[in-house]
This record gives sequence, C-alpha cells and structure tokens, in this order.
Amino acid sequence: MGKEFSIEPKEVAGVDTKYRRIQTKLPAPGSVATLEALRKVEPISMRGQPPVVWDRAEDVQVYDKHGNMWLDFSSGVLVANAGHGMPEVRKAIIDQVESGLLHNYCFPSEERAELATFLVDLAPEGLDKVFLLTTGSESTECAIKLSRSYGISKGGNEKIGIVGFVRGFHGRTLGSQQVGGMPGQKDWIVNDDPAIVQVPFPDGYWTENTDFDHFVLSLEATGMKPNQVAGVMVETYQGVGPDFAPIPYVQALREWCDANDVLLVFDEVQAGFGRCGTMWGFEYYGVHPDLICFGKGVSSSLPLSGVIGRSDVMDLYPPGSMTSTHTGNPVCVAAALASLKKIVNDDLPGNAKRLEPILQDGLTDIQNRHPDVVGNVTGKGLVAGLQIVRAGKKEPDPDLAFDIVERCFHKGLLFFAPVGSWGQTVKIPPPLTITQEALKEGLAVLAETVDEAISARS
Ligand SMILES: Cc1ncc(COP(=O)(O)O)c(C=O)c1O
Repeated sequence: MGKEFSIEPKEVAGVDTKYRRIQTKLPAPGSVATLEALRKVEPISMRGQPPVVWDRAEDVQVYDKHGNMWLDFSSGVLVANAGHGMPEVRKAIIDQVESGLLHNYCFPSEERAELATFLVDLAPEGLDKVFLLTTGSESTECAIKLSRSYGISKGGNEKIGIVGFVRGFHGRTLGSQQVGGMPGQKDWIVNDDPAIVQVPFPDGYWTENTDFDHFVLSLEATGMKPNQVAGVMVETYQGVGPDFAPIPYVQALREWCDANDVLLVFDEVQAGFGRCGTMWGFEYYGVHPDLICFGKGVSSSLPLSGVIGRSDVMDLYPPGSMTSTHTGNPVCVAAALASLKKIVNDDLPGNAKRLEPILQDGLTDIQNRHPDVVGNVTGKGLVAGLQIVRAGKKEPDPDLAFDIVERCFHKGLLFFAPVGSWGQTVKIPPPLTITQEALKEGLAVLAETVDEAISARS
C-alpha cells in the first residue's frame, strides 16, 4: 500500500481490440500536464490510482482524450453497477436538471418519495424506512448512531457497544474508521472509543477459525459483555478479499443478535444492487439485517447513499434532528432511480450470477498455474479477487500485486490499485453490464499479465 504509479510516459505495446485500444505511451504524454497539475494542488493521498485522465466512460469502457480506451475492471470503485454513463441514467439526470429542481434540502419532493418507496420495496419485509445521505461513510456513521441510540433506549448508557471486524472497512471518517479494522489506518485516532471493538473476520484464509464460538470468545476477550452491545456492523463481504463469512456463522450471528437485542447492520455499500449475483449481497446468508447501509452502485454515477431499517430504529429521532443538507438531492435521486430500474429491468443481478462461474474459473486457472503466489481466490457474482502472496508463504506481496495492476493498465485493462489489508489483492469488479466476451478478454489479459509479472521478477 501507499505506492504511486509513475507519471513518466513509458513506451508500451500497441493494443487494438473491440474492448481495448492503446496507441500512445502511458501515461499519454498529452495528459501529463493534468497529472502534474493535480499533484501540485491535491494531497499525496490522491496519487494512488493508475494515471489515466478519464475523459469519458461508457458502459464497460473508459476513454482518455488521446485515443486510448480501457476495458474497465474497476467500475470506478464499484459504483458503475449499471454501466458507466448509461443513456437511461444520463437522460434522467438531464430531465431532472431541466425540470428546474436542483436542490430542496429536507423539504419534501416527489423525486425523494419515489426513490424512498422504490428502495423500501426492494428491501426485505420489516425494513420499511429509508434515510438518504450522500457518501458511504455517512451511511455507516448514521448506522452507528442509530445502533447506539437503540441500545440506550433498551439498556441505558451501558448498552452502547459497537462490534466491528478485523480488516473491516466502513469509510474514513472518525466513527466509521473506528468500527473498521484496517491495520495501520487507525493510528491517527489514538484515543480509541472503548465501546467500539473488533473481532476476527471468519474469512477462512487469514483467519482459519470460522466457528461462531470464535466470535463469542473474541468478544469476551475484549471485556465487552453481550448486554453492553448495541450493534454489530459487518460488511456483507469484506472488501479486502472480497471475503465472505460462512453461512452458518452469519446465521448464528443473527441468532446471537436476536438473543441479546443487538442490531445487526450489514454494510452493503459495496455488496448491494446486484454485485454478488442477487439484489442484496446478504441474501447469500439467508438472514435479514436490522439496518442496511448502501451507497456506491445505487446510482451508478452521482453521489447518493443511505440507511434502510426497521421503523422502530429509524424513528428514534424526532422531527428535524436526524437530517442532512443534501439528503435525496433531486439530481442524484433521478440518477439512482434510473440506475435501479436498469438493474432490475435488465436483470443485472442475474447477469452477475450467470457470469460468476466464468470469472471464478478464469481466476482459478490463474491460481492453478501459480499456486505459490496466488494465495487465495474468492468472489461471488461479479466481484472477485486474487490475493498475491510471497512465493510459497502466507505473506502478502503488495509489490507483485501492484506490478500486475500497472502492467494491465499498459495493456488496456483497468483496475484500481490493489486493495487488501496489506495491498495484496487485485480486485475484479467490472460493471454488471459486462458481456461474457468482454469478461473473457479481460481474464485472458489478466492471466497473461500475471505470467509476465512473475517471470519478470524471477
Ligand atoms: C463497505 C464500504 N463501506 C463504506 C465505504 C465508504 O464509502 P465512501 O467512500 O462513499 O464514504 C466503502 C468505500 O469503499 C465501502 O467499501
């Protein structure tokens, strides 16, 4: 982690296929002035992605101004579920802009009523209220606040504990980052809230013990008692893998929450809206949460997020006391409605499910060719990851993962920088509109690149 891609143009082989075109050095020499301007005025933290200056993005492709075109395996960090810049979404945005309503704060609007109803109809029965926000971190912050408020209403000030998971990620704001468990990212907090703890996430690879007893014992070891817990917040899959928990574990967690009057919060900011091959990622576990945090893929474009939950929890705050300036911004709402309708009408969750075996087989083939460095392959629907380790060891290899992403960038296949607790994961979340042909082309490029990166190293 923490590496930056070079912005010195480098000679690379030309590419020209239906999905990819590379015809300049990379980064494109004509884009260097923009890259340098950004380096001058933006914080260093913004230098983490492959240096393509996006000019436009359509469906599964990203274009620069210099004739290059990438097949996108990033979805712009899992946002473009319904494809980039799809005509339906653009038209909805344009129509809304032309209607003359660009902002209405918490004043009522027809647009907000339509989206809120749509979302509640998509959610499981009993989750019948939604509060719209702007970013994923805001949605997880809101769920933390609601969980604590619920706990206090049930057990007084003792019942404010929030249980998160090691290697969890819920955003970069104070509360969301405290509940998350990313090593090395929380050092700035220093005075951790003693009522926020993490337990191991049962991914089965880094944490081999996947029994639910491990949750109970780990919680006990933190000193927090079940009656002090207000909420358990879990990513439906941990983004770092993507890592899923075993189904029996999550079902036991649901029972434990019920037995202790604890809210179960699924952070679906990444997993929702078809990504895992079902509308909601948590459907895989066969349980329902009490609160759902969502964001990213809901609009496939403009910023919108929110919390969906049980009325008794969502209604804890009186009029005017749980609000947000940009709640349900009408232009963002229009984009979200168009994106959701496309996800539903085109059965994009179904497309993700149908393509899952192709994605998994392609990645397993790569792992079978290099079992010593591809430590773990995981995924569901159209989200997957290759976790790269040092040859023959269970130790993350972020440098090799970075090299793979950079080489793919040079070949017209776009990933975001490696993720994972140690930067070891090459993550694969293409738009859910991708065809089998495009997916196979991307997988072939990835396979060839992994071979090259490994032989370049040896
Ligand atoms: C699971 C999860 N929760 C929350 C967030 C935070 O969302 P945002 O960056 O929109 O604040 C992210 C972002 O990557 C995420 O993956």
